[in-house]
Amino acid sequence: MPIVNRVADLQPDIQAWRRDIHEHPELLYDVHRTAGFVADRLKEFGCDEIVTGLGKTGVVGVIKGKKPASGDIKVIGLRADMDALPVQEATGLPYASKTPGMMHACGHDGHTAMLLGAARYLAETRNFAGDAVVIFQPAEEGGAGAQAMIKDGLMERFKIDQVYGMHNGPGLPVGSFAIRPGPLMAATDSIDIIIEGRGGHAAQPHKCIDSLLVGAQLVTVLQQIVGRNVDPLESAVISICEFHAGNARNVIPQTATLRGTVRTLTPKVRELVEKRVREVVAGTAQITGAKIDLTYTRGYPVTLNHAEQTEVALRAARDVAGEANVHEMPPMMGAEDFSYMLEARPGAFIFCGNGDSAGLHHPAYNFNDEAIVYGTSYFIKIVENTLAA
Ligand code: NI
Repeated sequence: MPIVNRVADLQPDIQAWRRDIHEHPELLYDVHRTAGFVADRLKEFGCDEIVTGLGKTGVVGVIKGKKPASGDIKVIGLRADMDALPVQEATGLPYASKTPGMMHACGHDGHTAMLLGAARYLAETRNFAGDAVVIFQPAEEGGAGAQAMIKDGLMERFKIDQVYGMHNGPGLPVGSFAIRPGPLMAATDSIDIIIEGRGGHAAQPHKCIDSLLVGAQLVTVLQQIVGRNVDPLESAVISICEFHAGNARNVIPQTATLRGTVRTLTPKVRELVEKRVREVVAGTAQITGAKIDLTYTRGYPVTLNHAEQTEVALRAARDVAGEANVHEMPPMMGAEDFSYMLEARPGAFIFCGNGDSAGLHHPAYNFNDEAIVYGTSYFIKIVENTLAA
């Protein structure tokens, strides 16, 4: 029976799991119920090995093919993320979040359910040679759960050779996929600036160091890094999104704070932007006489798809969706902590069409259950193609 047909049989179960997870969102590493749910299902499917508590609350299942691996590639890792977001749900769905202020607004409920579906199929058929390792990680939304699992020995312990991940894509038609080799999603770094000036009377600016004016200068000059330091054929974003200063119209504020984010697509541009931000801050302090404290924190690295594994992903996607429904996409300036897995092992990350839904992280967003057959089948195809029995 073709994979898609069998997965269509499994669809109602996968959808039910998805909706159950949707109803019970959990944040970051605190995904105890979801991880328990995942581990229970993996046990039911008859996985050969189930490990919990990797990277605090991550879960891993090992499914052995009917034959031992014969080629160089012996173990394929498939990854889903389990965490939700601190967003108040506004979908009005019958299975909407039961926890106020939390919802699955990024579709990780769907990712988890689809990977469970693939695990069930793979454990049932075992039509491959080698091991399929299903990885369910916590804390994708800013907590670097993928890195925590890697630090706990994920890759070595399960001898993972290659790793594949997926995200749903709002705006991409259901039944289609999008991917590109090389940089797919941005590195994300954060900027925290505290400006210490000298407060005083609004009518006596010459006796003050106006922290608000210093902040305004910084916001402007930081944009010149993108406009005048970064090669126009490269990509970078600096967004200062918080600016706090002052609380009276006739008082020059003593302090101002700025917070923002930096997005880049190559290590070289990432280095350049960090260096220039540091220089701009130091220079502004010198010009203005303010004391400026900068904390520049590196976050998720660039999500870099490996060329050969992108071909593997393309083939699997085409097998599932047909050639016409698999597209090359431009890079996005959002970030993904699957980037850590791609630093540790060759692999690829792909987008699976979620149709005309609200955008990711929007209160009206919902994962599209129509996409289940495609996403689940894609994971299965990766294993059966790469570890052909
Ligand atoms: Ni997400």
